[in-house]
Amino acid sequence: MSYSYQIKSYEQYKKDYQQSIDDPASFWSNIAEYFTWRKKWDEVSTWNFKEPKIEWFKGAKLNITENCIDRHLKTMGDKPAIIWEPNNPEERVRTVTYNRLHKRVCQFAQVLKNNGVKKGDRVCIYMGMVPELAYAVLGCARIGAIHSVIFGGFSAQSIADRLYDANAEFIITCDGAYRGDKVIPLKNVIDDALIGNRTVKKVIVYTRTRTPVSMLKGRDIWWEDEMEFAEHQIEKDGIVNFPAEEMDAEDPLFILYTSGSTGKPKGVVHSSAGYMVWTNYTFINVFQYQPGQIHFCTADIGWITGHSYIVYGPLSAGATSVMFEGVPTWPDAGRFWDIIDKHKINILYTAPTAIRSLMGFGTKPLEGKDLSSLKVLGTVGEPINEEAWHWYDENIGKKKCPIVDTWWQTETGGILISNLAGITPAKASWATLPLPGVQPLLVDDKGNEITEKEDGLLKGNLCIKAAWPSILRTTYGDHERCRTNYFATYENLYFTGDGALKDDNGFYRITGRVDDVLNVSGHRIGTAEVENAINMHAGVVESAVVGYPHDIKGQGIYAFVIDSNTHGDDELTRKDILQTVSRIIGPIAKPDKIQFVKGLPKTRSGKIMRRILRKIAEGETQNLGDTTTLLDPGIVEEIKNGKI
Ligand code: PRX
Repeated sequence: MSYSYQIKSYEQYKKDYQQSIDDPASFWSNIAEYFTWRKKWDEVSTWNFKEPKIEWFKGAKLNITENCIDRHLKTMGDKPAIIWEPNNPEERVRTVTYNRLHKRVCQFAQVLKNNGVKKGDRVCIYMGMVPELAYAVLGCARIGAIHSVIFGGFSAQSIADRLYDANAEFIITCDGAYRGDKVIPLKNVIDDALIGNRTVKKVIVYTRTRTPVSMLKGRDIWWEDEMEFAEHQIEKDGIVNFPAEEMDAEDPLFILYTSGSTGKPKGVVHSSAGYMVWTNYTFINVFQYQPGQIHFCTADIGWITGHSYIVYGPLSAGATSVMFEGVPTWPDAGRFWDIIDKHKINILYTAPTAIRSLMGFGTKPLEGKDLSSLKVLGTVGEPINEEAWHWYDENIGKKKCPIVDTWWQTETGGILISNLAGITPAKASWATLPLPGVQPLLVDDKGNEITEKEDGLLKGNLCIKAAWPSILRTTYGDHERCRTNYFATYENLYFTGDGALKDDNGFYRITGRVDDVLNVSGHRIGTAEVENAINMHAGVVESAVVGYPHDIKGQGIYAFVIDSNTHGDDELTRKDILQTVSRIIGPIAKPDKIQFVKGLPKTRSGKIMRRILRKIAEGETQNLGDTTTLLDPGIVEEIKNGKI
């Protein structure tokens, strides 16, 4: 397979970019020609940001799994699609060829059918990083069901909220999941999430850890039994096949919940055709994927990065995608480097937080590890600081591998701003240039384009002017929420929630969120969400949560809490609050610091002045800005003195 739409030079990038803006219809239809369609499109794109209503490849019919699997079978059936590296390095590696992947996905599609799943139904997936997770995702896509994967670190309460919001009737889970030296009892968490639930009809359980589970008669069934039965049903002359459901280009492919500035996570909805074309196009161009290469994205499939760059992007390109069950520091901090050496990885795509944490162990864990197979390195999820960028470049890439700093979001479906490996220039801690079809714009708070430079750079709120194929289509069950969140801040613009700088070369540097969303270890968490969870604790009167710079996590969570302090033991209350947050959201949202305060800085109209709290959390003591509008300015001094 060769990719005629792979950009081969900086000159070509400029030409392609220009063409994608001047004539998007012919630009994208030329690329879309390389995919398998049941019926081609009537129109390449039609959209408005007012409603918003966005359609790509309108009128086309397809199934994404035919593009990710079936079309590769003739020439690459025996090639590994997925190489699975288990949590425990002593355990056997599993290599899943495209033929095997086809078989398993077909079997699982039949399992779904046997259990009453139909096109358009929502299926919640809560599993560890095992190949069966990929089969589950693709099995849903094959039958036309909408998957909603929930990261294994979320609590029962978070799952319950997501099940309710999506009105999900089916769950796929594991008995448990391995993560380093821990076993997470996934099925038990699902049982808790299902207390009081009235919509879920079936729970399919895959055996991974042999953690004891309770199976409810009529509702809970074993994956293994179902798969075996399905295999017999659909096998004919030694071949297992399940005909893929014909999907409309705009039929939803999946929902993925993500945090925003309000208390409740939103179900971002992606559609079939546009998402497929974009994840494939960006995978091939950003990483400059060459046929035969081994790609290792270290994300979890519970996040968008795993959806787009472990599953859909690499598989649609016919690549070999490595899936890792464990964590980078177990059994020791050399685990990533062992995996690269063992599987001769060519492309490594990871998060700055992982790089910073491994950097802390020095270069000893690298000794004796052969990293010479590496060709391209990538980062995603948060701004990368220069120190980490150089460490990655020198110690992992040995100064021979281009680093792509890829900026994007759950809502964008795939990478929007990034250098192309070895093709367009890289600049430490800059995401640099937009992909073809992407038109960024920096605006001030009123929505006016920034034209005046500050210290030689343009600085503003990052917006995108026109629709690209994989932009979100809606937020599940609440289109108005989608409109107000992304399309109403500035007229006719998609607002990203990020701030950015632009230099004279047209390069962008993303500086971080400008709304009330935190980015902790590359995970998105809303401050309001954490506050709601803290406020659930019986002893808490009120709280305010802000981010502060954290050496490894990028941002840490700082909570200011007013408590009724009945027993007078701050340490105990702190522990109780952490426990509450873990229960309500999950351990990823636990505050790093909790400071008990007597009051919060509020305006006369009762609004918390977060700007002041943010400065205090960052360690600023002098320039806290104007405090004269505060109801009780004295409270600021008190909070400052009690800082931890
Ligand atoms: O603030 C940006 C940051 O991560 C946010 C999106 O988070 P999420 O939807 O969870 O998706 C993460 C994986 C795509 C963005 O609004 N972000 C992501 N990539 C970068 C980044 N910040 C700076 N540089 C990046 N390369």
